[in-house]
Amino acid sequence: MNFNPSVYMDRRTRLLTQMQRGIAIIPTAPEVARNADTHYGYRHDSNFYYLSGFTEPEAVLVMVAGDTPLSILFCREKNLEREIWDGHRFGPDAAQEQFGFDAAYPIEQLDEKLGELMGNQPALFYPLGFDAGWDRRILGLRNSVLQKVRGGIRAPDDIRDVRALLNEMRLFKDGHELGIMRGAAAISTAAHKRAMRFTRPDRFEYQVEAELLHEFCSHGARNPAYTSIVAGGASACVLHYVGNNAVLKDGDLLLIDAGCELDGYASDITRTFPVNGKFSGAQKDVYEIVLAAQTAAIAAAMPKRAWNAPHDAALRVLAQGFIDLKLCSGSVDGVLESEAYKKFYMHRTGHWLGMDVHDVGDYKVGNDWRALQPGMVLTVEPGCYIRPADDVPMALWNIGIRIEDDVVITENGNEVLTDAAPKTVADIEELMKRT
Ligand code: GLY
Ligand code: MN
Ligand code: MN
Repeated sequence: MNFNPSVYMDRRTRLLTQMQRGIAIIPTAPEVARNADTHYGYRHDSNFYYLSGFTEPEAVLVMVAGDTPLSILFCREKNLEREIWDGHRFGPDAAQEQFGFDAAYPIEQLDEKLGELMGNQPALFYPLGFDAGWDRRILGLRNSVLQKVRGGIRAPDDIRDVRALLNEMRLFKDGHELGIMRGAAAISTAAHKRAMRFTRPDRFEYQVEAELLHEFCSHGARNPAYTSIVAGGASACVLHYVGNNAVLKDGDLLLIDAGCELDGYASDITRTFPVNGKFSGAQKDVYEIVLAAQTAAIAAAMPKRAWNAPHDAALRVLAQGFIDLKLCSGSVDGVLESEAYKKFYMHRTGHWLGMDVHDVGDYKVGNDWRALQPGMVLTVEPGCYIRPADDVPMALWNIGIRIEDDVVITENGNEVLTDAAPKTVADIEELMKRT
């Protein structure tokens, strides 16, 4: 098996150190029924995977911090009958050895062992409130420990959300993670190029989606990181459009927001391009403004700059552009002050990116936007969405454009992971040139 457990063991050690004393309980995700007896493709819980590297369902990580730190896995037992139907299971013995746990037990023993392990621990760390079923179960187990008080055993009275520690750890990507994210970005950029080459009038949005999925899967990224948005024409102005079932029209733009998940890490790219391979004058006018906003935002994604600096930079360019296009009137400061731009740009310019497409991590420290630091990964994704309205020039109706890249903050600047997906008018038209 090509798997290095030390990456995950190091993370467990770091979490144990921060916990100081107490017990952490981190379950993986449940399998989810789709209908009858079939399930959605299984996806582990991100926090569980971050600390274990273990991808089987029905597993729980328990960590005990203190003088003798412990990492214990509870997982499914070997079961030759079930393995004939569903495939390989590690079982506790092999999982302990190959994933570097101090101990591993069958998942059926979880409640009994937790009852013992929780006793006399001062603090209980778990994803508090994340899942009502787990809340009931964990607090019920704590209640049973409380009842042992006359035997001199105390239950943890300090109950904390372990995500406060984990979110901060996950916000800073290590070299192992950045390597995977570069891989995810490379596959997704190739998928966007494939989609551009394939697109033409009269094809359906779902046929373009199929090209994206083909590129993801055939390079080892078995799933998209989120449902792909393939939005032709006016549908680009529906921010979460996932119908993907319309025919593509000559003269329309196509907005694709799609990225693969590779080894548990997301990529998240948006490109907007003409269905027929050639931007119209009006489309180009809007596109160049969004591209200039994105260029300014990426230039502001620098170490020590505030989280909001890319958003502010994008807004200034967009506000001027909206004035030039006669979508807004007055001065840039006036448009920003009145938030008149929100009619055409109603979302923010990015989010953290990692195991989750909208990854964990605080955006503010106290009342202030936090400073960008090396190892943070964010998206930069300004856009412009022009719905038909009496006070909007008709030539611009139904133009929806977003341009999104994935950016790592480095010591001296940034690294754009998704640069290889064309985004200038010239590069897009060149790639789509019909011979
Ligand atoms: N694809 C989700 C987003 O861009 O935030
Ligand atoms: Mn995004
Ligand atoms: Mn996106």
